[in-house]
Amino acid sequence: MNPRASELGNKVAYQIYIRSFQDSDGDGIGDLRGITSRLDYLAGLGVDLLWITPFFPSPQADNGYDVTDYRAIDPLFGTMADFEELAREAKVRGISLMLDMVFNHTSTTHEWFKRALAGEDRYLAYYKFVDAAPDATEDNPGEPPTNWQSKFGGSAWEYVPQLNKWYLHLFDVTQADLDWDNPDVRDEMASILRFWRKKGVDSFRFDVVNLISKVEGWQDDPTGGDGRQFYTDGPHVHEYLQELVERGGIDGCVTVGEMSSTTLENCVRYTNPAHHELSQAFSFHHLKADYAGGDKWALQPMDIDQLRTVFRTWQEGMQEQDGWNALFWSNHDQPRPNSRFGNTDTHWYASSTLLPTCTHLMQGTPYIYQGEELGMTNPDFTSIDQYRDVESINYFQILQDRGLTADEAFHVVHERSRDDARTPMQWDGSATAGFTTGTPWIGVSGNHTWINAAAELGDQKSVYAYYQQLIALRKGEPIIAEGEIRFFDGYEGTPIIAYERTLENAPEGSAWRVVVLCNFSGDEQQLSAPFDQAQTLVGNYGDALLEAGKLTLRPYEAVALAWND
Ligand code: GLC
Repeated sequence: MNPRASELGNKVAYQIYIRSFQDSDGDGIGDLRGITSRLDYLAGLGVDLLWITPFFPSPQADNGYDVTDYRAIDPLFGTMADFEELAREAKVRGISLMLDMVFNHTSTTHEWFKRALAGEDRYLAYYKFVDAAPDATEDNPGEPPTNWQSKFGGSAWEYVPQLNKWYLHLFDVTQADLDWDNPDVRDEMASILRFWRKKGVDSFRFDVVNLISKVEGWQDDPTGGDGRQFYTDGPHVHEYLQELVERGGIDGCVTVGEMSSTTLENCVRYTNPAHHELSQAFSFHHLKADYAGGDKWALQPMDIDQLRTVFRTWQEGMQEQDGWNALFWSNHDQPRPNSRFGNTDTHWYASSTLLPTCTHLMQGTPYIYQGEELGMTNPDFTSIDQYRDVESINYFQILQDRGLTADEAFHVVHERSRDDARTPMQWDGSATAGFTTGTPWIGVSGNHTWINAAAELGDQKSVYAYYQQLIALRKGEPIIAEGEIRFFDGYEGTPIIAYERTLENAPEGSAWRVVVLCNFSGDEQQLSAPFDQAQTLVGNYGDALLEAGKLTLRPYEAVALAWND
């Protein structure tokens, strides 16, 4: 059995994007008390862990991923007392809070960065500052130290005239990368973790944590790329993580790292318990199956062969080497997956339930992103003015600079924007979807009139009820939590993803084999299926259509068959 299975196998996590979940004070922005007021809803779904996106003081240039103070609460979201109340109330319901630690960079409004700007050597050494040419000026700073590009577009370097130096920012210009080679920085980060541990927090998500260690010596990216090869899974990342985990007192906590453009080998090291790093990793390769040429901003229909291969590689590869995957389709940085990989116009329910069936029955820890359990879709925005995200706004311009018309650029942003996932949680059919009594910071999607929690709770045929069923299965069937996984061969060129789980010595009455079959297309598929002994464990069309050794999969159908005898 995978060594992580006993600790994590039957847990399900839920992600809250705090700005958009529930507002309690009418300012149009979600907050901590809002979350507390919705804990019964989350307990009813059956989740164990609640990842809440950053609520620390921040100028909100990147909605809280630009932290000014890691030990306090932004008044926008509430107070420390609100946080403590939330943690207490969550605990009563058997739910742990997972805090989001943004340790690769700070906001440029952080005290450390301000003191660096004031020329204090100690704090200059906290960041990646590089001298500019002696004759550099504000109007003519010369070439930046490297040709690296920021993940949000433009150069990854910013010139500071009063210091005559550049600083590195892999993200927004207000998010300055920390220098993890500096032991003082590592001390600070461990001490922040100890602060939250003392408050009883026992679960952490680490933002882009595989970018913390940069290759020494600044070099241009010879491929003309963004420079990622010089800082992704960098030279000391494992060493720094081990140190952070030990000194922060979080070994044994539930931890997950966001691993940008990572590799299987690195994720095995990040998550195999023998290494004492993290307990789970988010990797993103499966979410690139619709990137033309690997470019997020170039659309193509999803390549199902690529998706299947990625799932197989990561599921079987992590299993073989005792790593552990976080399982997900969706988060606050991704468009809604049912809009993206299904067809929400013609098969909204099937598309919204196919995707979780495919991943929740895999080996790992499933993460549900708010609203996914209701079948929320990309919003029906029609103008760039409705978007709020810095990346979307930058790329609307960059795409036009690359030669797209404004309409074409808008279409791409509409399909790829992070705001697709950030519209207010759809609680009910009222004008602001029950999210706020004020004006929401970002528009509500038009379909909240029929896709909403009030309409779905209590409806046994809702997307919400289907998620409840998937979560209950993970807790009730040991094979889901602990079983081995193996993908079937022979489906290349078809829209089908198929795998089986097996469990030796399954307890009496529970399944020892489960076969999962998913049809990622709007057309019926027929397979020969020697499955006569099996029963439907779960399926988004109810019972499987099995007849005379043939299985028919309907549009976007996912079904799991089980053997119990
Ligand atoms: C992660 C976060 C994203 C943020 C970025 C920089 O990818 O999920 O929202 O913009 O890191 O912190």
